[in-house]
Amino acid sequence: MIASAYLAPEGLEAVLAEALARAGAGVTAWHGRLALSPDPPLACPWALDIWTAPCAHDAPSVKTAADTLRAMQRNWSAYGATHHRRMALIAARLPPVKAAPLRFPEAPPAAHLGAWTLLAPNTLLASPAKSSPFVNGECRFEEDHIGPPSRAYLKLWEACTRIGRWPQPGERCLDLGAAPGGWTWALARLGARVTAVDKAPLAASVAAMADVEERHESAFGLAPEPTDWLFSDVVAYPARLLALVERWIAADAAARIVCTVKFQGETDHATADAFAAIPGGTVMHLFHNKHELTFTWAHPPANPRGE
Ligand SMILES: C[S@@+](CC[C@H](N)C(=O)[O-])C[C@H]1O[C@@H](n2cnc3c(N)ncnc32)[C@H](O)[C@@H]1O
Repeated sequence: MIASAYLAPEGLEAVLAEALARAGAGVTAWHGRLALSPDPPLACPWALDIWTAPCAHDAPSVKTAADTLRAMQRNWSAYGATHHRRMALIAARLPPVKAAPLRFPEAPPAAHLGAWTLLAPNTLLASPAKSSPFVNGECRFEEDHIGPPSRAYLKLWEACTRIGRWPQPGERCLDLGAAPGGWTWALARLGARVTAVDKAPLAASVAAMADVEERHESAFGLAPEPTDWLFSDVVAYPARLLALVERWIAADAAARIVCTVKFQGETDHATADAFAAIPGGTVMHLFHNKHELTFTWAHPPANPRGE
């Protein structure tokens, strides 16, 4: 019996397996990058997508498989690990699902989406519900190949899309570890006022953008100062970044925080758990993350009665 399934990011199957084991979810088999579990679904930041209601069905023909899916609901996302030709024939009998790249800032697709695969030629695994609104968790954008000096801006776009918030014109942003300037470029394009902090310089084209200020210093030596957004893409040990984030939250300096937690070699799951335990915070693996997680945090709303 399969009660949940977790789609690993490419190359991070072992990391997902470790995280699931730590969380107490068993894995009985892998189907490509999909970990099949007999346990109820649980939140796991390393999964790109979580199939929360999977059920296996006999599907002796292409038509039976397509009919089974259509009888359940309209929209389906296919994850193919094997039997690609047969899966394509089934998919051709299903209504098309809009999967056009997003033009940032654009909301993710709102249509309910399920996921399916063929475990064997005649065995369909279908989950009418899944965690990600994107096909296989792949949040793709219309990219800008000219403006930004690095592709890192896609992480920032995806994080903002996932939380449904992004800096508004005039808002103050601190961008730690900003060089060469992909994130600063994306923030300045939104009309925000950006202070870019890095020992390395920004690309000249980004440094010349309106409302961009550069500071050549260490992110870790910076005293917390009032800001609407604190961003960080600094390369640092996760525990060091956790201490920085905790310091800024304790100082009540930032209204929102978005930062990349980067891992080298072994994954520091304990520190990832500590990030996840921060009240008001979430930890997720973005489609555009490598061996990284993205931490987002929002200041709790002020209590109108002052209690
Ligand atoms: C992955 S790059 C950032 C890419 C950037 N977000 C972009 O969009 O182009 C990491 C940056 O962290 C910077 N960095 C490393 N240690 C730092 C520190 N202690 N303080 C500030 N920046 C640091 C590096 O110089 C490097 O430019």
